[in-house]
Amino acid sequence: MCGIVGYIGKQKTVNILLDGLKELEYRGYDSAGVALLNQNKISVYKALGKLNNLEEKINTSNDNESYDLGIGHTRWATHGKPTELNAHPHLGEYSYVVHNGIIENYKELKDELISHGHKFVSQTDTEVIVHLFEYYQNSLNSCQEAFEKTVERLEGAYSILLISKACPENIFFFKHGSPLIVAHGMNEGEVLFASSDAPLIGLCKDVVYLEDECGGVASKEGIVFFDESQVQWGSLPSSKQFAQKEGYRFFMEKEIYEQSNVVSDTMLGRLQDQSITFDEFDASLIQGINEIKICACGTSYHAGITASYLFERLAKVKCSVEIASEFRYKEPLLTKDTLFIVISQSGETADTLEALKMAKKNGLKSIVVCNVDNSSMTRVADHSVLTRAGIEKGVASTKAFSTQVVVLWMMALYFAQQKKVLSQEAMHTELHALREVPSSLLVLDKVHEKTRRLSKRYLHGHGFFFIGRDVFFPLALEGALKLKEISYLHAEGYPAGEMKHGPIALADPELFTIALMPQHLLYDKIKSNVEELSARDSTICAISPLSFDLADDFIQTNVKDHYMLEFFEMLVVLQLLSMEISVRLGNDVDMPRNLAKSVTVE
Ligand code: F6R
Repeated sequence: MCGIVGYIGKQKTVNILLDGLKELEYRGYDSAGVALLNQNKISVYKALGKLNNLEEKINTSNDNESYDLGIGHTRWATHGKPTELNAHPHLGEYSYVVHNGIIENYKELKDELISHGHKFVSQTDTEVIVHLFEYYQNSLNSCQEAFEKTVERLEGAYSILLISKACPENIFFFKHGSPLIVAHGMNEGEVLFASSDAPLIGLCKDVVYLEDECGGVASKEGIVFFDESQVQWGSLPSSKQFAQKEGYRFFMEKEIYEQSNVVSDTMLGRLQDQSITFDEFDASLIQGINEIKICACGTSYHAGITASYLFERLAKVKCSVEIASEFRYKEPLLTKDTLFIVISQSGETADTLEALKMAKKNGLKSIVVCNVDNSSMTRVADHSVLTRAGIEKGVASTKAFSTQVVVLWMMALYFAQQKKVLSQEAMHTELHALREVPSSLLVLDKVHEKTRRLSKRYLHGHGFFFIGRDVFFPLALEGALKLKEISYLHAEGYPAGEMKHGPIALADPELFTIALMPQHLLYDKIKSNVEELSARDSTICAISPLSFDLADDFIQTNVKDHYMLEFFEMLVVLQLLSMEISVRLGNDVDMPRNLAKSVTVE
């Protein structure tokens, strides 16, 4: 979601803020803004759309003032349309605030403040924070007390940075639910803030990943926390892991091509000659466990459904999967013989994080499968298994998914091994297949070229059905999600055998069916399902190693000897196809409309 940054120090404040926002932009790009403050002057710049609009505005402003401190924001709109007026920082009479999260009780607070004469200009929830602060500041004449009283009144999830002409040397900060990091800079008197660690790497001596309910006030004299007992200083990697496009047209394209390499990292040290090992936990983890519950959102949820087939098939353990936003409010029955696994690329998705906290509160053992070390979920879960995909910048997730599936497949095998429920031969087959995953994820020129050529046939029509069975059903869901996200075309993933229970009524030549037809899993069954659709004139694009007469279009995958290898080959085809369709439609592949990389609001 939104990204926030803050800076106190002698370097050019606006440059530090803009550099920081660049690192966070992929999280939200509806608008961006900064507020800059010194003893004499407060200036604010806001611009709609991508960060370069803001940069341009600042560059053409000829503002040569040197500012002591500043705060910045890149927005993914929650309350109020993406307009300049709704862009952060939000202003009262003499103070500014940036905010990541949602203030749930903003309507009551707004009514109360209006009754005290405060005037609001935006439709956002955030604006109440700065008015509430000024309401208290006007009567208490103490910025710190006013800020503490303000955060006491806020409900929801938020991390905030606030500056005010009433105390021009300070940045006030608070975290409740949304991530925030505070850091000492390399130079004397420097303090930095960011909602994730990327903007801070290389600029800081030491950092605190704030815990919930942690806040304080910073100045060039240092950082004072309201409650020191929650504070733990740590460090960041000293060099920045820059994500660059490296000659690819888009981050998404680079990340698709990278999958073959990064899954090798995912398996490193975990895939042994005859077995699977995880340093992150040991066999005691599964003692007393009769069931696994997986919880996640979006693409990570699809990895979870895939894993549920593997846990039941390989480890013979009952496994259910829940969408985190549903799970949280369904009053789930949680028993201590359940192992709770959350899956998240970012480790920050609000619903998944809250689901994890709920499970922990109920005494369940928990694991997070995550790509970002030191993220909120890795700090909450009992065990963190990192997917090691490297920074994923494309908003449409690609390598995060393949690495998640590989980790979960290995976990299923680890449990199978501990429970001794797989024959030696079956285990050998699985381990052999795992070793072949990197080659299955290689992007072949001919396949990429084919998706490029086919993409022009699939720009219109009244919808897409991606169909598959078994693990190819969650793969179908993932293929449909990728297409929706970046092409803005309507697509659904469906279990192939379920089409005749309703959706087949939609079949006509303008309905495009993308059929996942692996050789090694229920081929005859899916073939019949596709035939049924073809008989009703749906346009069929078959993805399979085996040629299929009734297909209007055919993307041939390599013959493999394990269905999971077919799964990864088809995954690459689906990712490329959606990317090429998006390119032809002229869309922004890496930053599709209305989306943001990490969803830190529920
Ligand atoms: C889709 C996509 C989203 C995320 C979802 C969960 O391409 O990226 O659906 O998968 O928002 O995010 P994480 O995995 O960070 O919890």
